[in-house]
Amino acid sequence: MTDHSSIDYFTEERSVEAVNARIGADCHDRLATVMESLVRHLHAFVKDVELTQDEWGMAIDFLTKTGQICDENRQEYILLSDVLGVSMLVDAINNRRPTGATENTVLGPFHVGGAPDYPMGTNITKDGARETCLFEGRIVDLDGNPIEGAKLDVWCDNEDGFYDVQQPDVQPPFNNRGIFTSGADGRYWFRGIRPVSYPIPDDGPVGQLLGHLGRHPFRPAHMHFIVSAPGFDTVTTHTFVDGDPYLTSDAVFGVKASLITEYEPVEDGDTKWRSHFDFVLHRQNTQ
Ligand code: BEZ
Ligand code: FE
Repeated sequence: MTDHSSIDYFTEERSVEAVNARIGADCHDRLATVMESLVRHLHAFVKDVELTQDEWGMAIDFLTKTGQICDENRQEYILLSDVLGVSMLVDAINNRRPTGATENTVLGPFHVGGAPDYPMGTNITKDGARETCLFEGRIVDLDGNPIEGAKLDVWCDNEDGFYDVQQPDVQPPFNNRGIFTSGADGRYWFRGIRPVSYPIPDDGPVGQLLGHLGRHPFRPAHMHFIVSAPGFDTVTTHTFVDGDPYLTSDAVFGVKASLITEYEPVEDGDTKWRSHFDFVLHRQNTQ
């Protein structure tokens, strides 16, 4: 009979080794590295909090509900990643840039492809705005040289705090969205509204989790931008409205000091606000 006492079966003490030893020799190197680390950290967490059987069941139930609410329009797992700070951490690791280059922040779920291309100066707000805001600035490289042919893909919520895709029966298609292309001087300017703060979708498991944690679901007011130009790293970012009460408690941790922008009052016909921001792009590493 086999001497079972000499075999290393699973125990609390050697749980990590027991699981990771099963990874096959043919496993892709990167997958092995990621999974070994995941198992190490996951087991350390379970041991740290001494997870109870009930808590394990609640976690399974939470993850099940998170999956069940996902469809082609709703991605609750990304929202979970957002509120846990994981989306911003992955974004930070993958978009390290030299000082002076415009910083990235989360893309969010409300970007849509195929927004209209507009000439500079167009008002992207199609449902009528109480007060118009002029957005303007330059797209330059790290030496301050203008970048010609840069594409600025912009989108924001309406004055009630909803994106057009959240209210397809209320807002016109592509409301508060558009694409602009810079000329030789690198300048951009367009009109829209001064964005407002809004809650992330909080009628699902992630919203319930925030409630249990005593956290609110709000994001501070922001305008989204994807700025791209041939030969440069694409910047996915927002500009935040200075003075917004949620700047220090963004539900998804997207705020960076360098992205907070003054919205100055102006008197120019319907235009009541002006927001100036220069985008500084980092040349792609070609080696
Ligand atoms: C957004 O800014 O559109 C957003 C980002 C993360 C989660 C929800 C919304
Ligand atoms: Fe947003």
